Amino acid sequence: MANPSLLILPGDGIGPEVMAQVERVIDWFAANRDLAFDVSTDLAGGCAYDAHGTPLTDATMAKAQEVDAVLLGAVGGPQYDDLDFSLKPERALLRLRKEMDLFANLRPAQCFDALADFSSLKRELVAGLDMMIVRELTSGVYFGEPRGVTHEGNERVGVNTHRYTESEIARVARAAFELARKRSNRVCSMEKRNVMEAGILWRDVVQEIHDAEYPDVELSHMLADAGGMQIVRAPKQFDVILTDNLFGDMLSDVAAMLTGSLGMLPSASLGLPMANGRPKALYEPVHGSAPDIAGQDKANPIACILSFAMALRYSFDEGANADLLENAVQKVLADGVRTGDLMGPEGGTPVGTVGMGDAILAALDAA
Ligand code: NAD
Ligand code: IPM
Ligand code: MN
Repeated sequence: MANPSLLILPGDGIGPEVMAQVERVIDWFAANRDLAFDVSTDLAGGCAYDAHGTPLTDATMAKAQEVDAVLLGAVGGPQYDDLDFSLKPERALLRLRKEMDLFANLRPAQCFDALADFSSLKRELVAGLDMMIVRELTSGVYFGEPRGVTHEGNERVGVNTHRYTESEIARVARAAFELARKRSNRVCSMEKRNVMEAGILWRDVVQEIHDAEYPDVELSHMLADAGGMQIVRAPKQFDVILTDNLFGDMLSDVAAMLTGSLGMLPSASLGLPMANGRPKALYEPVHGSAPDIAGQDKANPIACILSFAMALRYSFDEGANADLLENAVQKVLADGVRTGDLMGPEGGTPVGTVGMGDAILAALDAA
C-alpha cells in the first residue's frame, strides 16, 4: 500500500523554522518506526504572495484537497500589512479551512507538569490541566455575508455578519460530544444568547443534539464572556469547551497562556471523512508567525511538533506513536530544556529552535 501523503506548508516568519524540526521528527519515524509518509512541500501565505502574487495558488489548494493531511507552520508578517484584504497571507489559511470544510478545530490546552510554575496562574490552578476547545472554523462572523467596508452618507461603515445555520452548529456539536465521550464526558457550550439571536439558536441546537443523541454526556452552557472569566479563574472545571469561530479564536489564546506559552499549543482542524475514511485535516500550531523573533533560532517548535502528534492520532490512527512523541516532549521539558518563551525564574538549559529539536530527537532515541 502507498504511504500516506502529507502536504507541508511552512509559511512565513517562524513557520519554516518550527516546521524544519517537525520534518526531522517525520524522518525519525520513517527511520525508526517504519512509519513513512510521502511528503510534499509548498508555499502558502506571504511567501506564496511573493512568488506568485497570491497567498494560495489554485494548484496548492488542489494539492491540499488530495493529500491525507496538511501540516501548516504559520502565515503573516508586517511586510504584508498594506496589501489588499484579499491578498493578505491570512487569506491562505481561511481559504484552506473553508474549501476543505474543516469545521471542527480542536485546540487542546494541556499543562505539562514541568511548566506549571511558568503559567501566569498559580501552580495549583493549572497543574494537571487538560481541556479541549472545539472551535467552529468555517462559519460565523469570519465568513458571513454581507461583509466589507461601504459608505453611508459621508462616513465609512465596516460590516461583518455573524451567521450560523442549524446544520453548521449541529455538526460541530457532534464533534465535541464524540470527543467528550473519549475524555471526561463533559461539554460546556459557550455563546452570547443574551445579546445575539444566533447565540440563542446555538444553545438550542446544541441542547437538542445532546438530548437526542448524547444524553450520556454532561452538558452545560455559559455566556462566552463569563466563560473567559471562568477559564482564568478555575480552568480545571472544563473538559471540552464548544464554541463558535470568533469566541473560539479568543478563548484558545487565553487558554494557551495558562499552559505557559503560545509556543506550546497545537491544533487539529478536521472536516468530513474522505473516500479512504480519514477526515479532511489540517494541523497547525495555534501561534502565528511571530515576526518579533523570526530568523533568530528563538521560536519554540513544540506547538508544531505536537500538531504532528495530533496528525498521528486523528488522521493516521497512530495513537501509540503520538504518545511516544508527546512523552518525548514531556521528558525534554522535565529535564529543564527551555526555549526563551519557557524560561522562567527557575532557569533551565537554554536552547534555540534547533536545540529543542535535537533534544526531542534524543528523547525519541532513548525511548
Ligand atoms: P503570534 O502568535 O505570531 O505572536 C504573539 C507572541 O507570542 C509574540 O511575542 C511571539 O514572539 C510569541 N510566540 C508565538 N509563537 C511562538 C513560539 N513558537 N515560540 C516562542 N514565542 C512565540 O501572534 P501575532 O504577533 O499577533 O501575529 C503575528 C502574525 O501572525 C500576524 O500576521 C497574524 O495574522 C499571524 N497569525 C497567524 C496564525 C496562523 O498562521 N495560524 C495565527 C495567529 C496569528
Ligand atoms: C488562528 C489565527 C487565525 C484566525 C488568523 C491568522 C486568520 O488567529 O488560527 O487562531 O483568526 O483564525
Ligand atoms: Mn488566533
